[in-house]
Amino acid sequence: MKKIIVLIATGVVCVASTKIFHSREEPKPVYIPLSPQRSGDSAKGFNYLVTGDYLKSGIPLSYFKLAFGKSSTNYLQREGLNQHISYEYTAVKAPNGEIVVAPNCLQCHAQIFDNKLIIGLGNSTVDFTGGEKLNPQNAAMAEQVLKNTDPKKYEAAEPFLKVVKAISNQLHTKIRGVNAADRLAALLVAHRDPQTFRWNENAIMEIPDEVIPSDVPAWWLLKKKHGMFYNGFGRGDFGKFLMASNLLTVNDTAESAEVNTHFNNVLAYINSLQPPKYPYPVNKELAKKGGILFVQNCAKCHGNGDEYPNLLIPEEIVKTDSLLYKSNYQNPQFVLWFNNSWFAQGEYKARLEPFNGYIAPPLDGVWITAPYFHNGSVPTLEAVLNSKLRPKYWSRDYDNLEYDYDKVGWKYTAHDSAGGTIIYNTDLPGYGNYGHYFGDMFTDKERKAVIEYLKTL
Ligand code: HEC
Ligand code: HEC
Repeated sequence: MKKIIVLIATGVVCVASTKIFHSREEPKPVYIPLSPQRSGDSAKGFNYLVTGDYLKSGIPLSYFKLAFGKSSTNYLQREGLNQHISYEYTAVKAPNGEIVVAPNCLQCHAQIFDNKLIIGLGNSTVDFTGGEKLNPQNAAMAEQVLKNTDPKKYEAAEPFLKVVKAISNQLHTKIRGVNAADRLAALLVAHRDPQTFRWNENAIMEIPDEVIPSDVPAWWLLKKKHGMFYNGFGRGDFGKFLMASNLLTVNDTAESAEVNTHFNNVLAYINSLQPPKYPYPVNKELAKKGGILFVQNCAKCHGNGDEYPNLLIPEEIVKTDSLLYKSNYQNPQFVLWFNNSWFAQGEYKARLEPFNGYIAPPLDGVWITAPYFHNGSVPTLEAVLNSKLRPKYWSRDYDNLEYDYDKVGWKYTAHDSAGGTIIYNTDLPGYGNYGHYFGDMFTDKERKAVIEYLKTL
């Protein structure tokens, strides 16, 4: 008799616990499956990246020289007209034969660090806060002048100028250093037909007001990742995403199809990049201790060495600012556009699959990629690993950039309050510095060891 009661009682407990389990839906990391990619030639990819005409419209060369001057650095050791053009622009031939200067990927995907140009390092000094030379007023003025004086130059520049006129004043971030590329993509999509890429003067879908800031991920991480972007939502053929800048000035999908034939090579180039090495001595003993702590506490998400688990981490676990991933659900029109567009069709198909959280990135070369998190809200690794040290309002000196090789990240000044566009304000929506509390349980000694290990990655 007693036995039966016990059995019934445990049965009840079992039923109760499965119920709790089902009603709460335990949040869990989600594996991103591998998508097949095109292979290519990395040398050709580099050449196309810094001299290629993936944008076929821009500023007429003579005007560019007037507005932007002559560059004497030639970091990329380019030849011909590009010798005197700063690395983040490329002189290209427009379809009508005129030479125009167009921005290239290195606007956002390169940075000068200790007097060297590091290709693939996200440009964390970029300024989207307004005051740029490529603004609607200047574009309208250039259009007028060109129309009246040089119809051929006008024809070559028109696709670029009309886009600058329509959208450049909707790209402003609140703070310097964060990037508005996701906003740029949304605006281009909103003005273009998904099948033909024809430009519409008026947006064909609703565009939210807010500009969500992001940092720029380092290119050398991509070779390990099965999904692109912080949200890990870029799936299928990566080359199709890499070429999306073409949407800035594209005339038709025949042009895109031609541009697309080069992006297997660009992907090969990006996948050939190695992270820069930490330039100072590392304490090997300490790094070894840190490595053990890293394997115990961090590697299950970030991977270690050649092993990388490719995991998306739900917001409930990582707890970092949610605005960026949420925008993919709150504004599904952009995801729908993409998944019904030219990009999702043809031999090489790409698609977007949003997730309620962020990818745990590989940490190769993490010492040089400050500021940290998807919104660049935390200036140093020390503060990533100790949430109490994260400054609420902080600034860095953009005229004289200084790196902190001890705390690992940007030297910064903490402020008592927000103000202006230089002080990073973590109170703003999308700019929050909370979450990722995984380093908080370490002692200061342990944390130092983990940081020492991170320098070696
Ligand atoms: C205006 C700035 C800007 C330009 C120009 C730009 N990108 Fe990006 N790129 C970004 C930002 C910001 C992200 C991250 C967006 C996100 O994840 O939400 C990104 C993401 C990427 C990624 C994904 C990396 C990863 O690990 O997920 C690749 C690869 C990439 N860009 C390649 C390119 C190439 C190639 C070009 C030129 C054809 C280019 N980008 C032009 C800003 C830019
Ligand atoms: C449960 C999974 C998980 C664990 C455990 C974890 N992380 Fe992370 N980590 C993430 C995710 C997800 C992000 C991206 C968060 C974001 O950008 O909003 C991240 C971001 C980071 C970044 C910033 C990278 C960058 O370039 O901005 C660093 C550094 C980092 N983690 C280090 C660590 C260390 C060290 C540990 C161990 C103490 C650790 N993480 C434990 C998931 C994890």
